[in-house]
Amino acid sequence: MKPPSPLIALANGQRLLVCVGSGGVGKTTTAASIGLWAALSGRRVLVLTIDPARRLANSLGLSEIGNTEVRIPLERLLGDGAAQTKGELWAMMLDPKSTLDDVISKVAKDARTRDAIFQNRIYRSIAGSFSGSQEYMATERLYDVYGSGRYDLIVLDTPPVKNALDFLEAPGRLARFLDRQVMKWFLTSEEDGPFGKRLMLSTSAVVYRLLGHIFGKDFLAELSVFFTLFRDLYDGMRERHEAVSRIFGDAATTFVVVSAPNEPSVDVANFFLQELRSRKLRIGAVVVNQLHRARLLNPDVDALLGRKAREIMPDLAPQMLARLGAAHRRLRELTALEAHWVRHLANEAAGVPMVEIDRQSGEVHDLAGLLSLHDWLFAKGTDV
Ligand SMILES: Nc1ncnc2c1ncn2[C@@H]1O[C@H](COP(=O)(O)OP(=O)(O)O)[C@@H](O)[C@H]1O
Ligand SMILES: [Mg+2]
Repeated sequence: MKPPSPLIALANGQRLLVCVGSGGVGKTTTAASIGLWAALSGRRVLVLTIDPARRLANSLGLSEIGNTEVRIPLERLLGDGAAQTKGELWAMMLDPKSTLDDVISKVAKDARTRDAIFQNRIYRSIAGSFSGSQEYMATERLYDVYGSGRYDLIVLDTPPVKNALDFLEAPGRLARFLDRQVMKWFLTSEEDGPFGKRLMLSTSAVVYRLLGHIFGKDFLAELSVFFTLFRDLYDGMRERHEAVSRIFGDAATTFVVVSAPNEPSVDVANFFLQELRSRKLRIGAVVVNQLHRARLLNPDVDALLGRKAREIMPDLAPQMLARLGAAHRRLRELTALEAHWVRHLANEAAGVPMVEIDRQSGEVHDLAGLLSLHDWLFAKGTDV
């Protein structure tokens, strides 16, 4: 007998599920489908998503809305039964254009500090190009909604990152960038006097003059202001970073690795498995999505379809049957190849339970589609 899907316990018991994996494998779809299941089983759920396919976003009412929590009505799905479910499904699409500004607004001690930072030219150029800002914003939002206590479960969909570290280390990067060690060089203590003056007097004077020569004196003055302002923000940023790190490591947080059955996404999945293990983070399941399956191993195409084909199109029947036969052989080869990659992944997963989802005939782009995946995600745990 197949063991029950590991996702049942996770969706019922955890506070945060993080879907990771390569782009296009079905992270967003899986996150949304898990969220729907948990909501239907009575929990208040938020799916925090990054880049839902346009049709899914539209049908969930997420279009045009960035960074706002939207309640997804389950009535259409459940009819009158909706009144009986206590659960709630919410979704929020992270707006990739939303910037460091939001974070600064939160941690700045007053409006004056905030505005001074926003106007600082150096800040402006950093805010616009802060690499990893998407991952960073995801963790920032997570921090807010997790702490709000409004949800029993948050399902976090992650950006399609090339490098897993980008996501896992996003909270740390900004904090490191603002590390006191770096800032010390620019900052002055009360006794040292203003930034510029100290540098002029110190052995760094040459460096200062050189920088001034290259960038202009105004730039250096602004740099000084920038770091002075950021000194005040540093502790706030740092606290948030540490809190997010704690959330990821919490016993109520589990990662779900999503992969398609092909070499590039299995490579990324394996990389995630290793990274998560080395960080001692919990991995609850590996979802292999979009499997092709040839159900008949060696079909006699003529016996199955010949009579019908000759009836409909007598002239073209032989050609059509030959093509169908060839198409089926390709499907069988694909099935065998995918089975190979599933085994490869199972090997790396080493004991982490795997869940398989067949490729559906159309896209999964609405609540009904997400619901149809429940048969796979929540019933068919497989012991590959
Ligand atoms: N099991 C499946 N069968 C058919 N289409 C799927 C399946 N899973 C996902 N899709 C489709 O594949 C595309 C990519 O899925 P998505 O969840 O956006 O991937 P990701 O978030 O990993 O980039 C979407 O158009 C989605 O509808
Ligand atoms: Mg996605």
